[in-house]
Amino acid sequence: MDSLMKIIQERHSTRALFDPHKPVPEGDIKKIIEAGRWAPTAHNMQNFEIIVIDDKNVLEKLGNIKTYPSPEFIRENYDQLSMTEEELLRKKVGILGLQFPPQWRDKAKLGAAMRDKTPGTLSDTIKGSPAVLVVVYDTGKRAPASEGDVLGTLSLGCLMENMWLMAHTLNVGFQIMSVFSGPVQKDVKKILAIPDHMAVSYAIRLGYPVTRSEYVRVRRECESFMYRNGYGKKFEQA
Ligand SMILES: Cc1cc2nc3c(=O)[nH]c(=O)nc-3n(C[C@H](O)[C@H](O)[C@H](O)COP(=O)(O)O)c2cc1C
Repeated sequence: MDSLMKIIQERHSTRALFDPHKPVPEGDIKKIIEAGRWAPTAHNMQNFEIIVIDDKNVLEKLGNIKTYPSPEFIRENYDQLSMTEEELLRKKVGILGLQFPPQWRDKAKLGAAMRDKTPGTLSDTIKGSPAVLVVVYDTGKRAPASEGDVLGTLSLGCLMENMWLMAHTLNVGFQIMSVFSGPVQKDVKKILAIPDHMAVSYAIRLGYPVTRSEYVRVRRECESFMYRNGYGKKFEQA
């Protein structure tokens, strides 16, 4: 039990550069996917498929895809950032701004950043990863009557967490890349020959960090969100 809690608490996003010359062993990739296979899904739909990309040419093609961060992302991202570790430790939610370009964290420059149409590329996100997993799902299936496919989305999250916990136990760095589900999806689908009825949910970069990967991780205290017998009734005092 203690070791499960330790794995859960220590699993983290590895946003560092990965060593492009150190492949993730095929056996480890298979274990990560085996862990995903046993994820719970609504109605046991299992309506996902996973494309493992470890061919340098394909990784390069994906890396060349142009990305255009949306003004909406830049604005809403800014609202949730902490600019210092102290601020993050105090707030206990959100993420540290340092991982974003300076103009995205400066209120005075935010307007210009939102208007800036200079593209980046997916390689800025893939950062030398020797392996990327692209998770796709069948848009023609949903859990019965699940409005907006909420249950399907939850299920893809369960898949993610199972794979993440396994990667962590194998000491394989893991970072989810939600950018793959955005406008770049069209180009990703073309390169990977993903059929029309499948959509990209997210991608994951796997590898071994060559730059610092530790950072301050925060969570709210249980007392701040845990109630007993009714919303807002403090658990310990009810
Ligand atoms: C649905 C979902 C999407 C996420 N998208 C990204 C992403 O695109 N890039 C990224 O670096 N982290 C992404 N994250 C990771 C979260 O930012 C991260 O889990 C959170 O800040 C807590 O940090 P930790 O994973 O180190 O505990 C995502 C997490 C989830 C669950």
